[in-house]
Amino acid sequence: MRVLSHLFEKNRKWAERIKRSDPDFFARLAKQQAPQYLWIGCSDSRVPANQIVDMPPGEVFVHRNIANLVVHTDVNCMSVIRYAVEVLKIKHIIVCGHYGCGGIKAALAGDGHGEIKDWLENVKRLGRRHRHKIDACRDEDEKHDLLCELNVIEQAVNVSRTPMVLQAWQSGRELAVHGWIYRIEDGILKDLDICITGPEDTGSPTSSRGD
Ligand code: CO
Repeated sequence: MRVLSHLFEKNRKWAERIKRSDPDFFARLAKQQAPQYLWIGCSDSRVPANQIVDMPPGEVFVHRNIANLVVHTDVNCMSVIRYAVEVLKIKHIIVCGHYGCGGIKAALAGDGHGEIKDWLENVKRLGRRHRHKIDACRDEDEKHDLLCELNVIEQAVNVSRTPMVLQAWQSGRELAVHGWIYRIEDGILKDLDICITGPEDTGSPTSSRGD
C-alpha cells in the first residue's frame, strides 16, 4: 500500500482536469519542450516557479536551491544553465529571490551547520562585502530585505559571467538575465531593474568585487 496514495490521487485528478480542457496537452508536450525561460529560484516551498507566473508545464525550465545561488563551481547549477542556453536556447534567465528567505536569515545570523553552513558562506561573503550598507539599516528586517535584494543582483551577475552565457552573446544570440524578488505576504513579484543583455552589462552594479 502506498503511504502517499493521496498524492497519486491528486495527480490523477490534475491530469484529468488538464485533459478535459485540452485533450492534446500531454501528447503535445511529450514531443518536445521549448521553454523560453530559465528560472533560478529558492527551494522554499512557498515560491513555486510555474505557479507564481501562472505558467503551465513546458514553459519554464527550473533550477532551485537554498537562497537561489549561482556558484560557478556548482556542477548542478552550471549544467542547468548550459542545457538551458545551449540546447533549449532559452531567451530569458530569471534569478528570483524572495523576502523572508530562511537562507538569507541564517547567513545574517551566522546560523546553519554542515553543508548548509558551507553553502551559505556565499551569502555571508556577499554580506561582508556590503557591510556598510547593511550596518546602515534601521533594523533586522531592513537588513534582511536589503541582503535578499543584493543577493539576487549578485546571482544575476554571476549568471552573466558563466562561459555559456558569454558564448551565447558572442555568437549574437539574444539572451537577457533578469533579477526579480517575490514577496510571500502578497504573492507579488518585483523587478529589481537589473536586466543584463550583454557582456558590457556584467560589471557588478552593487559595488567593487573582491573580498
Ligand atoms: Co529562500
